[in-house]
Amino acid sequence: MWGDGRLCYGGDWNPEQWSPQVWREDVALMRQARVNLVSVGVFAWSRLEPAPGRYTFDWLDEVLDLLHDGGIRVALATPTASPPPWFSLAHPGALPVTADGVRLHHGSRDTYCAAAPAYRTAARRITEVLADRYATHPALAMWHVHNEYGTTCHCEHAATAFRSWLAQRHGDLDALNAAWVTSFWSQHYSDWAQISTPRATQYLANPGQLLDFRRFWSDTLLAAYVEQRDLLRAANPRVPVTTNYVLGGWVPVDHARWAREVDLVAIDHYPSAVDGGAEEQTALAADLARGWARHGAGDGTAPAWLLMESAPNHIYTPGRMHTKEPGRMARHSLSHIARGSRGAMFFQWRAPAGGAERFHSALVPHAGPDSRVFREAVRLGGILDRIAEVDPGVVEASVAIVWDAASGWALQHPGLPSASLDHHAEVSAAHRALWRAGYACDVVVPGDAVEAYRLLVLPALYLTCDATADWVRRHVRHGGHVLVTWLSGVADEHARVRLGGYPGALRDLLGLRVEEFHPLAEGEQVLLSRGGTGRVWSETVRPAGAETVTAYVGGVLDGLPAVTRHRYGAGTAWYVSTRPDDETYRRLMVEAARAAGVGPVCPAAPPGVEAVRRRAGEASWLFLVNHTDRPQRIPADGVDLLTDTPVDGEVVVPAGGAAVVREAPD
Ligand code: GLA
Repeated sequence: MWGDGRLCYGGDWNPEQWSPQVWREDVALMRQARVNLVSVGVFAWSRLEPAPGRYTFDWLDEVLDLLHDGGIRVALATPTASPPPWFSLAHPGALPVTADGVRLHHGSRDTYCAAAPAYRTAARRITEVLADRYATHPALAMWHVHNEYGTTCHCEHAATAFRSWLAQRHGDLDALNAAWVTSFWSQHYSDWAQISTPRATQYLANPGQLLDFRRFWSDTLLAAYVEQRDLLRAANPRVPVTTNYVLGGWVPVDHARWAREVDLVAIDHYPSAVDGGAEEQTALAADLARGWARHGAGDGTAPAWLLMESAPNHIYTPGRMHTKEPGRMARHSLSHIARGSRGAMFFQWRAPAGGAERFHSALVPHAGPDSRVFREAVRLGGILDRIAEVDPGVVEASVAIVWDAASGWALQHPGLPSASLDHHAEVSAAHRALWRAGYACDVVVPGDAVEAYRLLVLPALYLTCDATADWVRRHVRHGGHVLVTWLSGVADEHARVRLGGYPGALRDLLGLRVEEFHPLAEGEQVLLSRGGTGRVWSETVRPAGAETVTAYVGGVLDGLPAVTRHRYGAGTAWYVSTRPDDETYRRLMVEAARAAGVGPVCPAAPPGVEAVRRRAGEASWLFLVNHTDRPQRIPADGVDLLTDTPVDGEVVVPAGGAAVVREAPD
């Protein structure tokens, strides 16, 4: 809770865009909404250092004091995601270069190469100066380093750093040549100097090089974070340090690995689907964050993570901002908190009059505080205060989905059998099936401790090294159940295909051999023998010990297995060789979970009511978030913290509302 015993509530606040009079009004409004944490200074570099080495801290001094007097704590940012114009002018060699060699210019944000020494030096300097001035300020709750690390670059600094990183990773050129299969298309390297970043090239690029480039950037950006963190820690070891993760397939960050270096995992989450999809995306993002947080230090209770940014009243669909319906902001916040977030933070506090994001959503919108959004913000502040006691509760789940950053990157390469392959989409489909079936699930990465899970789901775990294959086998041998989907186990950690039939790493576990892929065209379906359809993908599965659960019907695969089950050791391994439609996937997941002895969180909850339980010792809290448009009666016993009323056998969850029941002990 970082400080005041409450869940965190607030958002990005940009006082540098406003007059001191607005600061005062804002602090009063924050108090009215019961805001207790704001992120300050995220993009304020040019206001803090208007010229090299000339600092203007008077305004920030005043702002922090004002917040402190108002009882509001601060996540103070280092402003390094947006270097000032003077920096770009003085260091044109630190501006980023795209894959096709275009040097980008100042005019937006993130115009730097994180491998450029001049940028790193300037970033360290402003961090040091900020640490020096504010590390012991009483308003300081945490440091918020940078903003959404994720930029890459192809300049000469980046190429040099890439070569040293490769030398470290592969040891020598023979190993690199083997890993990248450079015998193909005459790409054999005989000198490190011949290797560049994967710049735009004539035709398909080398998959090993593309994959290592993503890994390189994950490590390089992490090093940039760590050097700032160390300066901040040195100034005051008691103040936690974090950075806000941005999610998305383009992001070259291995979030689970980064979690070891942050004091709490912080994510920004912006769903892109309007209908139920926003709720499903919210649940997955929160489960991912909790999974990553298991790799961090935490504070000895639950894994520590925080929803650092979300949009108050918009859903950003491609091409249009959708206005959230009344109550949806609170439901999304509760869904995150049900899944372990230590609060609900927003981008942003007050909507700006100008600038590139002038129409982005805010708790105080352009209309001002006399608005639906602000009234909902005030209500949300009350809700969060009423449920603060849930904070130490650990989310209960007996199912886990395996997520792997590198598999996601590798499935973005050109030259794959279909353009519709996407690790995150497959993780989402599996998670959606569980969400719709009412199961709570954790998200883990290969190698995590998984003994506690009855069912492990591996959606398109394309890169499977020997250690990961052993890890899955061990789990099943000891009685665990696993549901593996197509594309898992196909390639090794360098994205080299494992030979002898797919999925090379997992054939023995699954008791089968896949002889051939049959990727489906967009919109094409295959029929399945127990009803339902498969999309995106299908394949020729030859059982070698596995039994057929569902077969393909019609077409060239008629009668061949689509879904199989194989006893292995004391456990069971399922294989799904196509992407079942959502309802078929839901039913399949329920069947596999039941076989593993796992049930939904709240069997009586109807579709559209999200149920999650958090537990701490003897205490437990049942979150019921009703995304439907009618009241729902759900069996429960205890006290509904939102209404402060006893629950005796049943709680009525209002349409579009929620209940958080402190459960009566059994
Ligand atoms: C991100 C950034 C913010 C802002 C929001 C807009 O999460 O961190 O600075 O750009 O998106 O939605």
